[in-house]
Amino acid sequence: MTTTEDQSVSDAATAGSHATDIARSGAATFRTGGGDVDQARVATVVGAALEGIRSAIREHKVTYDEFDAFKRWLISVSDTGEWPLFLDVYLEFEVEKVAAETQDGSVGTILGPFWLDGQAQLDSPATLPMRDDEPGTPMILAGQVTDTDGTPLAGAKVDIWHTDEEGWYSGFAAKPPAGNLRGVVTTDDQGRYEIHTRKPAPYTIPLDGPTGQMTLAAGWSPWRPAHIHLLVTAPGHRTLTTQLFFTGDPYLGNDVASADKPELTLDPQPTGHGDEIRSDRDFVLEAE
Ligand code: BEZ
Ligand code: FE
Repeated sequence: MTTTEDQSVSDAATAGSHATDIARSGAATFRTGGGDVDQARVATVVGAALEGIRSAIREHKVTYDEFDAFKRWLISVSDTGEWPLFLDVYLEFEVEKVAAETQDGSVGTILGPFWLDGQAQLDSPATLPMRDDEPGTPMILAGQVTDTDGTPLAGAKVDIWHTDEEGWYSGFAAKPPAGNLRGVVTTDDQGRYEIHTRKPAPYTIPLDGPTGQMTLAAGWSPWRPAHIHLLVTAPGHRTLTTQLFFTGDPYLGNDVASADKPELTLDPQPTGHGDEIRSDRDFVLEAE
């Protein structure tokens, strides 16, 4: 989440440890059922994962030097608290694809490590908390939340978070104040929401930590296209976890987290008020 050297140093450490605390606390339990671990399932899934690594060792004749470097890298992922970041960049999109095979309603994508609980609760139409001089293109995101049969979901919650114009997330970087460009907006009696914010920017994952270093060492792009994160919830309905991207973004199709999908691309249009732009996007939630 950086293009600036000095900020990236504090950012990787802050983002890593904060995301680890959140993952450890299980705050994102809206997705998980918990439950007992089945021995056969452990043997099947862990066995397949280990065999994948063993087969890479055999096929590519991995040396002891490389094995030792891998150990040191794994240790530094732990030391920097980057397990949530690494897992969400390189594996979450496959878990999401598997989950989507049995889901109805709007298209979703990954959550990522930068969601925060306890943000400003706002009624629609709402303006997200932002600095007096918040830079960036003013943007309106609006639409309706419905059930799969088209019934409007009044009182649904649209939890939204995104970076500022420089690619920084509040709560994970030094620059934006706490709660900046984050909020939970309640739909009106027609299930409609309207959110006034700023257009976010593309960003790189932190480059000074082991996830970014490994990405650069492999010659892969560390960029995520600009995106808006959303969690859309309504009682009795499965929570939709999604992101919205922007047409023309240079990083679409080459997202380091492989989370962009054509169905999730917005094409905002000028509203005629200064440089303000607007996109309309409805969300459909499936009943549980
Ligand atoms: C995100 O904020 O979207 C994200 C960041 C790093 C990894 C995966 C997702
Ligand atoms: Fe993000």
